Amino acid sequence: MMSQEQNDLITRVGPGTPCGKLMRAYWQPAALVDELEGERPIRPVRLLGEDFVLFKDEQGRYGLIDRDCPHRGADLAFGRLEGGGLRCAFHGWLFDVDGNCIDTPAEPAGSPLCKNIKQRAFPVVAKGGILWAYLGAGEPPAFPEIDCFIAPDTHVFAFKGLMECNWLQALEVGIDPAHASFLHRFFEDEDTSQAYGKQFRGASAGSDLPMTKVLREYDRPIINVEHTEYGLRLIALREIDDERTHVRVTNQLFPHGFVIPMSTEMTITQWHVPVDDTHCYWYAIFTSYAAPVDKVKMRDQRLELYELPDYKSRKNKTNDYGFDPHEQATATYTGMGLDINVHDQWAVESMGAIQDRTREHLGQSDKAIIQYRRLLRQEIEKAASGARPLLALDEAAARAIQGPATMDGIGPSRGWETYWMEVDVKRRRGAPWAAPVPSEIAAKVPHLTAAE
Ligand code: FES
Ligand SMILES: [Fe+2]
Repeated sequence: MMSQEQNDLITRVGPGTPCGKLMRAYWQPAALVDELEGERPIRPVRLLGEDFVLFKDEQGRYGLIDRDCPHRGADLAFGRLEGGGLRCAFHGWLFDVDGNCIDTPAEPAGSPLCKNIKQRAFPVVAKGGILWAYLGAGEPPAFPEIDCFIAPDTHVFAFKGLMECNWLQALEVGIDPAHASFLHRFFEDEDTSQAYGKQFRGASAGSDLPMTKVLREYDRPIINVEHTEYGLRLIALREIDDERTHVRVTNQLFPHGFVIPMSTEMTITQWHVPVDDTHCYWYAIFTSYAAPVDKVKMRDQRLELYELPDYKSRKNKTNDYGFDPHEQATATYTGMGLDINVHDQWAVESMGAIQDRTREHLGQSDKAIIQYRRLLRQEIEKAASGARPLLALDEAAARAIQGPATMDGIGPSRGWETYWMEVDVKRRRGAPWAAPVPSEIAAKVPHLTAAE
């Protein structure tokens, strides 16, 4: 069990907090690129407990600046895009993407007032369909060369959704392989050929067993956790019979991401980004190793649940997440419909705005969560001491971070240790873009990765 101080240490991310300092050592998703398209590319953004305005100027450059106007504090999110920047709607002060004040039109002609005014401004880059902001001090780190960042635009699709709870409990669902056998249990399997874009609805690789059946019938996974250069690798094993074992490989991507398989074709890389201590957005990049992603279909599927402009779930606390007791008795474990995002949302929001970890009791199946929290505390300390935390990398080191491997398949009970790597390598080999085989894996399955 944890003390209140320890829980505060690992959950609070506002300015001046130790975990906030850690988070500020990384690029953070601030918005989807889509959100800054359209006629008025200006969005208020709350990130790590601070309020900003994100905009795209007339030259197409992105800017992220403090939201309160340095004149008398009006809200710049209602400003006008003109004159080479964002103009406050109160007295017309104008700011460029670097936060320079370039006009104070109510002041006497030739007034030097502008010269002394500088709004805080932060770098923004577009990558994988997401606009990333760096709120930290000094040089931002380089992006690791993981698949979602190097796949061509045709093979990635980004989306997001709001969760009304602390970021950490939301992340911890992603490193909890046991919950899928319960929370996401369906009493009947769908036709796996209709699974496009849906988590757990396809068949496990190497079999025609729907993932839903495997999860339902084999609910006591053995979980292996390994430390890696990007975070943690989780291998969950479900023994089907003496000969066959279901293997599912997922990853924790430090500090607040995970990389998990969605189907044989696609992987999900997802970050749980703190809006403040009691809200977070999940941002996901879906990456295809086969055909281009059907972005229209993926987007339409998700817009059935999420409402713009805030990407709030239509099923939420105010309507009991659509809970139907009849459905719970006959069709699903939760009674909250077929969309697994709703299940996860209920699970994490029902814990309270910030889960009270002084009252929890962890078991064997929480192994990865325990290791992650240990890692998180260690990296919070590292950041506090001024050192670079895990995965806050320079260019050369970032180039070495590849993959990571994910898979969901049925393999041999003896030999699963290399089986999952072979499945991942084959998928990379067959990809229409150059998906590199991570070097640690190449070294372990040389017969598959040797140059031809
Ligand atoms: S408050 Fe913004 S220009 Fe006056
Ligand atoms: Fe889940």
